[in-house]
Amino acid sequence: MTNGPSNRLTDLNTLVSLAKRRGFVFQSSEIYGGLSSCWDYGPLGSQMKFNVKMAWWKAMTRRPDVVGLDAAILMAPMVWKASGHVDGFSDPLVDCKECKHRFRADNTESYLKSRQCPNCGSKNLSEPRQFNLMFKTHMGPVEDQGSIVYLRPETAQGIFVNFINCQTSTRHKIPFGIAQIGKSFRNEITPGNFIFRTREFEQMEMQYFVKPGTDEKAFEDWKETRMNFYKRFGLRLENLRFQPHGPGELAHYAKAAVDVQYNFPIGWSELEGIHNRSDFDLSQHMKFSGKSLEYFDEVNKEKFVPFVIETAVGCDRLFLAFLCDAYREENLADEKGGEDVRVVLGLHPEIAPLKAAVLPLSKKDELIGTAEKIRLRLAEGVGGEAATGDFDVTYDESASIGKRYRRQDEIGTPFCVTVDFQTAADQKVTVRHRDTMKQDRVAIDQLNSFILQGLRNFT
Ligand code: GAP
Repeated sequence: MTNGPSNRLTDLNTLVSLAKRRGFVFQSSEIYGGLSSCWDYGPLGSQMKFNVKMAWWKAMTRRPDVVGLDAAILMAPMVWKASGHVDGFSDPLVDCKECKHRFRADNTESYLKSRQCPNCGSKNLSEPRQFNLMFKTHMGPVEDQGSIVYLRPETAQGIFVNFINCQTSTRHKIPFGIAQIGKSFRNEITPGNFIFRTREFEQMEMQYFVKPGTDEKAFEDWKETRMNFYKRFGLRLENLRFQPHGPGELAHYAKAAVDVQYNFPIGWSELEGIHNRSDFDLSQHMKFSGKSLEYFDEVNKEKFVPFVIETAVGCDRLFLAFLCDAYREENLADEKGGEDVRVVLGLHPEIAPLKAAVLPLSKKDELIGTAEKIRLRLAEGVGGEAATGDFDVTYDESASIGKRYRRQDEIGTPFCVTVDFQTAADQKVTVRHRDTMKQDRVAIDQLNSFILQGLRNFT
């Protein structure tokens, strides 16, 4: 059993194998032995990841005071000098001279306790040296010092350097925010724990620009907003908490910072960072670019460099939190009185990769033909009316109906729609609910709105 108390997943490997078997996440370049800490999202995973991004994007950009941005991954190298990444974005790296293992000194417990190699226990170690986490490449045909560019280690800087472009093009007044989703890259010394810490990952970041003096209130407001987001998408409250950073733990740019932590199977760990970055970044870019990034407040006729409240969450890490939170094993009695374990991903329907599965009870032509028509109605909606809904839907005709229900439970599909021998006579299908296993008989012409309603009513 991989569930601990209160049905909490305690073993990440259970998810890793489910994710591979069902097409959520595969090891990158697997047929070549895999590339360390890089992962590919499969048919279900790519759909679910898209849903995670859409949930975040909508929560941000449907507010009247937040706009979107999609900045390039490659930026002028001076950006990273100004931001402090060239000189300061590094971790202390230690080499074991015996087994050649390399590890990060600041979070390796055995090293901190006894200065021993966590791999072989040897004390023959190098002194810690700072290792910059940015990936470098070259732009253009000449590979020299002058052509170095970096793969961005955070999406935030694309927002800072576009602050004036976004503000003047949208005529937004402060306070307002800029939201962005995109790939970031960090040459982590110790990546691991599946998609929790990787070298290529996606971030969802929002920078909220405020008048200095109003920053502390905005910081508190965003803490609440972000926690409400997680509640809205069904993460269990007992698995979420705030963890403030003490004065000694603050990043070089931060005036205040708090992590939203999630109780992963590896323990409480950062899911999202919420930071009061003061005017650090805009001031640095003013200094290095020579361009003004000041805001002119027309009402009070004053100029100032805005403070920034940042919310920053990893898309992959949130994807993992959703999977961990949703995974459950239920003990059901089988027909012979034995034990039968039902694996369910109780994902919020907006996050679940598929909303419905259409299952003909048998492979008879008449059932298959009707089932295909129903699949199409669900996939495309009916008569172009948005109110009747269109959904990510799948079709499955192989194996017993019980087995097919279980397949859908395991990937979190909220509804199964069964076409049976009665369907031709009464124009109805059976809709089976993932969480309760309850079944309803629903008229085909009501099916889309029934499912839409069911998705909306999900709590
Ligand atoms: N702009 C601020 C910033 O990037 P961060 O705390 O370094 O702050 C924000 O990163 C979030 O990005 C983290 O809370 C985490 O969810 C995600 N993240 C950071 N490094 C990651 C990695 N190596 N793999 C996966 N996700 C990562």
